[in-house]
Amino acid sequence: MTLNTTLEIKFAGKPRTGADTAVLFIQLEKKLESVGKELDAKTKGFISDYLKKEKSFTGKAGDLKIVTLPAVSGYRRAMLVGLGKAEDQTLVKAENLGGKILAVLEAAGSIHAAIFAEGVKKSDEFFAHLAYGANLRAYKFLKYKSVKKDDAPKHLAKLDVTVPGAAKFYKPLENIADAVYFARDQVNEPPNMLYPDEFAKRIAKKLKPLGVQVEIIDEKKMAKLGMGAAIGVGQGSMYPPRMVIMQWKGNGKGAPAAFVGKGITFDTGGVSIKPAQGMEEMKMDMGGAAAVVGLMAALALNKSKANVVGIVGLAENALSSRAYRPSDILKSYSGKTIEVLNTDAEGRLVLADALSYIQKVHKPKVIVDLATLTGAILVALGHEYCGTFANDDKLWAQLETASKNTGERLWRMPLDDVFKKEMTGTITDLKNIGNGRNAGSCTAAGFLQHFIEGKTAWAHLDIAGTAWVKSDQPTVPKYGTGFGVRLLHDFVQKNYG
Ligand code: BES
Ligand code: ZN
Ligand code: ZN
Repeated sequence: MTLNTTLEIKFAGKPRTGADTAVLFIQLEKKLESVGKELDAKTKGFISDYLKKEKSFTGKAGDLKIVTLPAVSGYRRAMLVGLGKAEDQTLVKAENLGGKILAVLEAAGSIHAAIFAEGVKKSDEFFAHLAYGANLRAYKFLKYKSVKKDDAPKHLAKLDVTVPGAAKFYKPLENIADAVYFARDQVNEPPNMLYPDEFAKRIAKKLKPLGVQVEIIDEKKMAKLGMGAAIGVGQGSMYPPRMVIMQWKGNGKGAPAAFVGKGITFDTGGVSIKPAQGMEEMKMDMGGAAAVVGLMAALALNKSKANVVGIVGLAENALSSRAYRPSDILKSYSGKTIEVLNTDAEGRLVLADALSYIQKVHKPKVIVDLATLTGAILVALGHEYCGTFANDDKLWAQLETASKNTGERLWRMPLDDVFKKEMTGTITDLKNIGNGRNAGSCTAAGFLQHFIEGKTAWAHLDIAGTAWVKSDQPTVPKYGTGFGVRLLHDFVQKNYG
């Protein structure tokens, strides 16, 4: 039996009965609004007294306090939420606030909370995004925890928001959250449970009922097609590689936008083995693929008008007598030969074939790839920013806007011929690593650039730092983040929807 961890969010004029916590918004002047006043009267001035005496609560945005209420109030506790100045509020801030409220409610032991919005001068959309942030933060991965049948929920199960008008804004956001949950679930799965074939099956199971066409290319077909780079990476594993192509035809005509994801279900480094310390985190090396699948799900759930194609290259970079070796020469789908100088630079090899295939078969007008590609991007940007390489300023501007809209942070990195040239091979067309450790993320991008045809607009998102976090963020609990789903959903809907 698995624990039910769902959070049920409801928008209505009045909360459902039985709420244990009343969430009250407080402006800078620390004045109570209607429900706050009511509770204050019932408790003989308990809350106003607290507000007057408690100097550490100022009503500034982000101030959160839990106050235990006298039983006559009908609630166990109140949560006081500072709203600060009205003009400070963006939708991303609303989401972050919702996420923080959720975390503090859960820490306080609340099972059912009511958010009272009376008298708060905020739009319906603001409250929809606040609930969205709470939902995103409420994600839990507990499927491998055994639980007893009568275990009471230890998490927030019900959240009521007294803003009926927010419901219609919330519906599309709930769909995105559903897709983010799916992406996180895949990232959090270990590689003995989620290997290429299993991942491919789950993609089909998730997307086909939503109306997305799914095509799975198995290793025999990959070999026949000449995907020698991806095959090379996957050949050391007992779990053979796959390519999965997903198509959403939102308006029937026109070249699609393409999204390409790195899907290494585990990265041991191969013969160029990684150090033991922290290797367990390499189950997240399919975070790019998870984001692409999540994006397809979000677009389908929201009935996007865009034409979109996704491709994920799935393989395990394993260690065995059959594994590819440093010095092996691989022939990629594009025909370009690659000398393997380090088997740990495997993601770019899988991406090379996925990029070439999608261009040849689907002729997209724009390509965005997502990949947990280099440790070097963590050195440069940490877990906060995703390194973004773009060969087109307009595409970069569109991505930057989507980043501002969603709070998924991007930072532009340089694409330059010097990095591209550095990847030229000596006895082959290309080699799979640069000359030294310096600018490792840039040389990786330079390698990928060899597989972009003509003038196709292309961006490469190195999500090695953002696909997995070790501490909670406002709308992202620790571990698999689902980074990219929110960003690219916004990008597609605003520019191609
Ligand atoms: N999957 C790793 C990159 C990575 C590192 C992801 C840390 C998430 C966290 C990738 O396949 C890799 O090993 N890259 C090498 C490239 C090097 C051999 C040129 C790296 O970054 O060390
Ligand atoms: Zn690697
Ligand atoms: Zn990798």
